[in-house]
Amino acid sequence: MNSNEAPIIEVIDLVHQFGERTVLNDISFNVHRGETLVIMGGSGCGKSTLLRHMIGSMKPTSGSVKIFGEEIATMKEREIGRVRQRFGMLFQSGALLASLTVGENVALPLFQHTDKSADEIEAIVKQKLEMVGLTGFEDLKPAEISGGMKKRVGLARALALDPELLFSDEPTSGLDPIMTAVVDQLTLKLARGSHMTAVVVSHDMTSAFRIATRMIMLGHGSIVAQGTPEEIRTSTNPEVHQFINGEADGPIPLNLSQDKHEDHQCVKPRPFALARYRFHHKTS
Ligand SMILES: Nc1ncnc2c1ncn2[C@@H]1O[C@H](COP(=O)(O)OP(=O)(O)O)[C@@H](O)[C@H]1O
Ligand SMILES: [Mg+2]
Repeated sequence: MNSNEAPIIEVIDLVHQFGERTVLNDISFNVHRGETLVIMGGSGCGKSTLLRHMIGSMKPTSGSVKIFGEEIATMKEREIGRVRQRFGMLFQSGALLASLTVGENVALPLFQHTDKSADEIEAIVKQKLEMVGLTGFEDLKPAEISGGMKKRVGLARALALDPELLFSDEPTSGLDPIMTAVVDQLTLKLARGSHMTAVVVSHDMTSAFRIATRMIMLGHGSIVAQGTPEEIRTSTNPEVHQFINGEADGPIPLNLSQDKHEDHQCVKPRPFALARYRFHHKTS
């Protein structure tokens, strides 16, 4: 990291509200060239929302997000397109196009943003798929591969243009420990060898501590703590301690309804309790 150089990403007083709910509340931080910043925090705390602001796909309610020194929050779609050629993005779901093969998905940014020949593109696709351990899967469709494999194809696509900056949202969730290590090694190799800057959202603590040069913990839409992995590991903040040690007891509420997850179809505590009550009364 070189802190004399202008930061690659500069987030200042970022606020995002969905209706009445403040999901990001006055977030400020910088990312410098060569850093691997891991953003962690419980499910629903705003990690993906924060990432979407950094890639310009979501506009802040207030505040500023600069990437490569340019304000992305007020950029027009065409200008954002230009900036996007400089970074790769791995989405939480992989976000592959179902109608294209694995190879075509990886080739997509090369067709969109370069004038390379089909042969050159084929060679790059092969090389990127090899990097993520998926040699020979070019011709399968996303529906024919596992969730973990989709993630890795998404990563291969994110790396297709050899970006100087990579955003990844939960790159290792759904991967087994060996594949997690492979993806982490790849991130480390690119960060150290090619001086790539990375912003990685993760709640996998083993992976987070393996790759991070700096960490930010989000909670209640704000930054709860930030520092080097060592500072986070030895933090006396009870919320940080609870999170990194995966403890059920602590200041982070486990009652999801407190987080107002009503817009998540899958979290409906009351009907579930009711069903259990009925079940007990029927069988006893
Ligand atoms: N498009 C949206 N409209 C309304 N609420 C949203 C939208 N996207 C995310 N949220 C809410 O914002 C909160 C943060 O979401 P998200 O950033 O996806 O969390 P995380 O990635 O940390 O799990 C959640 O409570 C989620 O329900
Ligand atoms: Mg998310």
